[in-house]
Amino acid sequence: MKGSLGLTPTPSADPSRVDRAWLAREAGPVPRAPWVLLDYDTRRWPFAAILSRDVYRIRRLDRLHVHLGEHKRRRGERRVHPTARDNVIVANMMAEQGPEADFWRLYHGFMLRVLAPLVGRGISYTQTPKLRIHLAGTRSVSSFHHDICVTKRIDQINFWMPFCDVADETALWLESDYGACDFRPVPVRYGQVLIFDGGYLGHGSVENQSDRTRVSLDMRFSYKRSATRAEGVALLNHLAGVLGSAPDPQICASEEDA
Ligand SMILES: [Fe+2]
Repeated sequence: MKGSLGLTPTPSADPSRVDRAWLAREAGPVPRAPWVLLDYDTRRWPFAAILSRDVYRIRRLDRLHVHLGEHKRRRGERRVHPTARDNVIVANMMAEQGPEADFWRLYHGFMLRVLAPLVGRGISYTQTPKLRIHLAGTRSVSSFHHDICVTKRIDQINFWMPFCDVADETALWLESDYGACDFRPVPVRYGQVLIFDGGYLGHGSVENQSDRTRVSLDMRFSYKRSATRAEGVALLNHLAGVLGSAPDPQICASEEDA
């Protein structure tokens, strides 16, 4: 695809307001599978344990909302129910971790020793990605959207890593095909990374009515010095070949939490 980004429509979080014909043209030839799962060993890469130890000091990250409620009660607050603002405040606690923190060392080690060897070439990736929190009982933290409308990076692929098992309301929801708009949750276990074509494949979250909090990290990566959509497609095709293509999200949507 020639990245005719001068035609980029106004960025919008509402997929119904995106020029879908434009988006389909811009996507050009798409990957064989729009998403794939990468499995890793949580004993070798204990992200959740380090987050729990160094940032939140709790045993189970998916119970973060319970600890937050207890904290509010101790402070004498009348309203202890988690809010959208709490999602941001709790995620920002990660900012207190400096670049030398164990968590970031582990993150960069993962990129160097797991992702880059799988890719088989040098990669560029987000150096300090944002932690995302979706507390139980709070509304969507990400309306359905396409990253290309904001990033303009036609060569990038998305990397979404949860630190607890996610399904249904705590999962990331993807459309089954480009422009299908039939969003379904993709169950992902702690120990898996969802790699997907988030520039052009619609994705987002829904209100979390479950009793579990989701803690995750997301970033984008690409071949080093890449600049074209074809390279992004080739990257996802390569990973699908190495890792095995993703199952149909429609099928996954009916599965129980893994
Ligand atoms: Fe996104």
